[in-house]
Amino acid sequence: MRDSNKKFFRYLRTAALKSLSQRITSLIAEAKNLGLLRHIPQVEKRDAETVKIAGRTLFNFASNDYLGLSHHPAVLETVAKAAKELPTSSSSSRLICGDSEQLRQLETDIAELKQRESSLVFPSGYHTNIGTICALCRKGDFILSDNDNHASLIDAIRLSGATVLIFKHNDPESLEANLKKVPDEAFCLVVTESVFSTDGSVAPLPKIIEICERYGATLMLDEAHATGTLGETGRGTEEQFNLKGRCHILMGTLGKALASLGGFIAGSPELTSALTNRARSLIYSTALPPLSAVAASAAIRTLLKDPAPLEKLRKNIQLFVNEMKKRTDLDFSRKVQTPIFPIRIGDEREVIVARAKLIEKGFYTAALRYPTVPKGAAMLRISLSAVHSEESVTSLAAHISEIISEKNRLS
Ligand SMILES: Cc1ncc(COP(=O)(O)O)c(C=O)c1O
Repeated sequence: MRDSNKKFFRYLRTAALKSLSQRITSLIAEAKNLGLLRHIPQVEKRDAETVKIAGRTLFNFASNDYLGLSHHPAVLETVAKAAKELPTSSSSSRLICGDSEQLRQLETDIAELKQRESSLVFPSGYHTNIGTICALCRKGDFILSDNDNHASLIDAIRLSGATVLIFKHNDPESLEANLKKVPDEAFCLVVTESVFSTDGSVAPLPKIIEICERYGATLMLDEAHATGTLGETGRGTEEQFNLKGRCHILMGTLGKALASLGGFIAGSPELTSALTNRARSLIYSTALPPLSAVAASAAIRTLLKDPAPLEKLRKNIQLFVNEMKKRTDLDFSRKVQTPIFPIRIGDEREVIVARAKLIEKGFYTAALRYPTVPKGAAMLRISLSAVHSEESVTSLAAHISEIISEKNRLS
């Protein structure tokens, strides 16, 4: 290479580095100014009920392990046995040679849990939403999305190229008003979570299904937080509302109540076959490790065999609702109860202070801020689990009510 060319390329590299460092500095400064700087909490140890952070053991009210299955003896024993024989990785995409008996067994177990003929496992719930929506929808199609849908659904919808219409959160009338705008001949996908991840509200599924059927729209339900928590046996929202088989596409995650990692679609064999051919996040990503599949299968079998964790979760939910009612004017009496409760604080900096106060008392909770929730709508997210004791639930409610009284006094 000529000297002048070398100089030119060196100049380009330095210019790129300079602009990268400027970019990084401005990203951090922007987050700091808005009170939105995030850190990964340095967790030193985690057991069924607690996390150790900065040398302190705290009751963990921030996890999605709603049934405590990630520490259930039956699940741990099955995984320990399988770990002696299984490789640590799938080492390639499912479509190359990353498939395994354990993944196929897991898909049979998911199909049974969700009462569908077929299921398909992805490396995560995020992969599942991206792969599924982008495989099914393209420019010219219409996607109707609940205003409060999860980031993985929002990103998938944007990436698909379809026209998006947002309907008001859990509002069937707004859904119907938007469906009226869709041309008759267009493919139309309605996408909603069933239990919303931020505030635990539940989609009015009977009404949504009735409207989708009337307008010939396809319904995709994200059951990330409903799987293992809703319905008599924890199968999810269709079981809760007695609507077996009425949703076209059921999506779920394995990293929450099902004690592992991964995501899935449950539906018809034609649907899973189409996704196997077209979902790029499945085709071009390493398959879930077989041991994670074993853990999820063991969790599903435990859920279906042992009703105790779900019963205990429901007792804890009722206890928390009663304690909060006794101590505050927050109304948590929902028609369908879920393990997620929002404590709405508003200001981004105040929510961090509120969380720090709870940490001081020995409780770890999640502080949700923009962009997880809208600007100025910061909240503490309380997630209950079957492993929490009555004492820790009662004591948490007491400390939250102190925070709320102080906030009311100051405002
Ligand atoms: C509603 C919802 N959908 C999808 C996901 C993504 O799942 P995963 O964590 O398995 O990627 C999440 C995770 O937080 C979620 O809450």
